[in-house]
Amino acid sequence: MKLLITGMAGFIGHAVARRLSGNGHDIVGIDNLNAYYDVSLKQARLDDLSGCSDVRFERVDLADRDAMALLFEKERFERVIHLAAQPGVRYSLENPHAYVDANLVGHMNVLEGCRHHGVKHLVYASSSSVYGANDKIPFATDDNVDHPISLYAATKKANELMAHTYSHLYDLPTTGLRFFTVYGPWGRPDMALFKFTRAILEGRPLEVFNHGEMSRDFTYIDDIVEGVVRVLDIVPTPRGTSEVTTDTSTAPYALYNIGHGSPVSLMDFIHAIEKATGQQAICDFKDMQPGDVPRTWADTEALFAATGYCPSVSVEDGVARFVEWYRAYYGV
Ligand SMILES: NC(=O)c1ccc[n+]([C@@H]2O[C@H](COP(=O)([O-])OP(=O)(O)OC[C@H]3O[C@@H](n4cnc5c(N)ncnc54)[C@H](O)[C@@H]3O)[C@@H](O)[C@H]2O)c1
Repeated sequence: MKLLITGMAGFIGHAVARRLSGNGHDIVGIDNLNAYYDVSLKQARLDDLSGCSDVRFERVDLADRDAMALLFEKERFERVIHLAAQPGVRYSLENPHAYVDANLVGHMNVLEGCRHHGVKHLVYASSSSVYGANDKIPFATDDNVDHPISLYAATKKANELMAHTYSHLYDLPTTGLRFFTVYGPWGRPDMALFKFTRAILEGRPLEVFNHGEMSRDFTYIDDIVEGVVRVLDIVPTPRGTSEVTTDTSTAPYALYNIGHGSPVSLMDFIHAIEKATGQQAICDFKDMQPGDVPRTWADTEALFAATGYCPSVSVEDGVARFVEWYRAYYGV
């Protein structure tokens, strides 16, 4: 199968490419290698894929309409895994235009490429952030998500709406995946696990927001990758003509949560890092940050029913694997 992976130098993109390599596909990965976080980590992920003869990389910006049109014209992808985006809730308060360029214009260019070149299935990243301050738990895809509390969340919800429109108008099968706090080796330096591990190993205090009164449905990278790979093979067909809900449609459109399904409190997460590093955290407790949410918890029943997806890695094991990778990668 000819596959496009956008955001291949990113945390999840790199892991998906690694997993799919060697399975008989012809994989093209793109990324603009922007400097939102350490570019050398993005480059190292690409270097890690350099031995995969079935994976090619091109530096392309999603927001470059002509370059994207040319890429789709030249390569004729059968399936697309669209993971490139400007992530991060907090940064969306600082630099909103980055989100419009990558997540709205970029997503549009991916949809257009798929529409004009007969792509058979587009799988794209949405986010648990769309649930905002939802107080019904666990979060289910038929919950109302019309009240985003960050621009990042608004762009991800917009991605789902845009995808639905293309599924309806052009019969483009699309599957959106709402990822829940992904963590693990090769992870993102702007996320809690990376920051906390670094601070603990350097003996610096860590900023703990909302005074530690938070919980997250932390999901290990290998479990996420397994879900993405399974979903890729389940091309949605129109479901139900009488009842149209958030996750069912008369169009070939699907939307799933992809999470572990069991929230962990922030303090327990920190204790897991303490255990894995063998060092004690110095916590600097702070108020809640604007745009942030107190808890996330994924209802993953629909994904399980469709794919048999069942996450298997506990936070304790996953954090230990991250710390092991971090120490080896940075030589500390
Ligand atoms: N990691 C998580 O916990 C999480 C949670 C929810 C949703 N997501 C979503 O999953 C996807 C992957 O996230 P990630 O954690 O791997 O993030 P990441 O930042 O590590 O990867 C995204 C990659 O996209 C690239 N990119 C950004 N803008 C681009 C552009 N305009 N053109 C080309 N490439 C561009 C970046 O350089 C980066 O390498 C994103 O869509 C993100 O919003 C991630």
